[in-house]
Amino acid sequence: MPTLHYTKTAPTSAKVDTLAVFATKSGKTAVPAADAVALGMALEVDVAAELEALGFDGTLGAVGRITTRGKAKATVVLVIGLGERESLNLETIRRGAGVAARNAARVDSLAVVVPGDVIDAEDADVAQAVTEGAALGSYTFREFRSTDDDSPTLGAISVLPGQGTTAAAVKRGFTTGEIIAGAVAATRDLVNTPPQAKRPPALADAIEELAKMAGVKVKIMDDKALEKGGFGGLIGVGQGSAHGPRLVELSYSPSRAKGHVTLVGKGITFDTGGISLKPSNSMMTMKSDMSGAAAVVGAITAAAKLGLKVKITGLCALAENMPSGTATRVSDVLTHRNGTTSEIMNTDAEGRLVLADALAYGAEGKPDVMIDIATLTGAQVVALGNKVSGLLGTDKELVQALLGAAEDAGEGLWELPLVADYREHLKSTVADLKNIGKAGEAGTIVAALYLKEFTDGLPWAHLDIAGPSFGDGDNFYNAPGATGAPVRTLIRYLQQRA
Ligand code: BES
Ligand code: MN
Ligand code: ZN
Repeated sequence: MPTLHYTKTAPTSAKVDTLAVFATKSGKTAVPAADAVALGMALEVDVAAELEALGFDGTLGAVGRITTRGKAKATVVLVIGLGERESLNLETIRRGAGVAARNAARVDSLAVVVPGDVIDAEDADVAQAVTEGAALGSYTFREFRSTDDDSPTLGAISVLPGQGTTAAAVKRGFTTGEIIAGAVAATRDLVNTPPQAKRPPALADAIEELAKMAGVKVKIMDDKALEKGGFGGLIGVGQGSAHGPRLVELSYSPSRAKGHVTLVGKGITFDTGGISLKPSNSMMTMKSDMSGAAAVVGAITAAAKLGLKVKITGLCALAENMPSGTATRVSDVLTHRNGTTSEIMNTDAEGRLVLADALAYGAEGKPDVMIDIATLTGAQVVALGNKVSGLLGTDKELVQALLGAAEDAGEGLWELPLVADYREHLKSTVADLKNIGKAGEAGTIVAALYLKEFTDGLPWAHLDIAGPSFGDGDNFYNAPGATGAPVRTLIRYLQQRA
């Protein structure tokens, strides 16, 4: 990610290569924001006429390029379309800022002007959305490239208070946006990392480093500790790999905290399916099967950096699901942390086995609520696709709060029912539960019903992020690969509780 700066200066005097301002769309024509009009006056160009000549109509994602001909420090002005005024929201602003960053990838520095007149929202929120969108739009993952040629990225992004905004509010929103975008980028980095570089022991160390930088306490339980502690699900799923499982416990405990939230993340560093081996094509994205754990890290480190007044426990259940001579078989029975037993009917339904232990352990801490985040089922992708995560939970208030947080954060989330009648699909002939239901029937719901058994009756919600966590990218602020979903939703939820 480029460095981010809040800069209180007029656009014409910003020392950057490229400036970005916004325009909305009215019918067939663009309506430049006040900053675009003012910039035009300073540059002695008729912005509206120039945009019309370019065929720019203000559609969301459209870009109009105007040269400054020596009348500003920057050489180019990008006018970014936001779409019809009536359809504007903070997510539109975030997307527009992402487009600005992506279109400035081949220059070193960009300044984005926070508009004061295009949307009916607080200046701080608009500034936060601009900062997040620009930062996320310029994200690249280059650690494993020998050359930067095909992934140019910006060196620096400046966020400028625009016409009609209050500088202090813009600065406040910028600071929040910088922390949130940094957390999303850190989550994306973990998910994009190749699986051989993030086996459970190495991933636990990487998480520890991120946590320490944020002032979050860390405890790592290794295979021995997990064996001793009765974490049969983590041990069972991890036993096919040469690199043992880990449970990472993160603790953020500020003074005068209002309540205690426990976040639990699925952290399968690579999901081959195990002995119930996946077909090759289904394996291509399975380095992302630790996205839930990575999201927990992003959320708790951001909460600490924001100084939120809520106690948070983060539990990352890490294991590599491999087929081998030491792997679990189909029909093996595992005993979980809370004594519940699971018969493995499909070793590819491994996420719920590791989450079972982590949820049971989390419940021992008696938090006010537990939320787990997991790339749990292919059925979620079938039902909701890659823009909307699935949400299931036992507590109406918690579910509503998460839906509201997702709405505010601009991330898709939709509730599915925890159908009690389907609980019987999980009955085993030898153990308390089996780890799969009926093929092709409500896979996401049945997986959640399995998890519910380990929540000890606490208010609990489950986010199935199989689709939204990883993908082909879009034209706004998501490059191909990890998206960082649902970190922004989790942070928003925590902010509202604090
Ligand atoms: N990690 C997968 C789920 C997944 C699928 C995530 C596609 C992202 C994209 C999970 O461990 C899995 O394999 N689930 C099985 C469960 C089934 C065997 C009951 C699935 O959904 O097919
Ligand atoms: Mn699996
Ligand atoms: Zn999996």
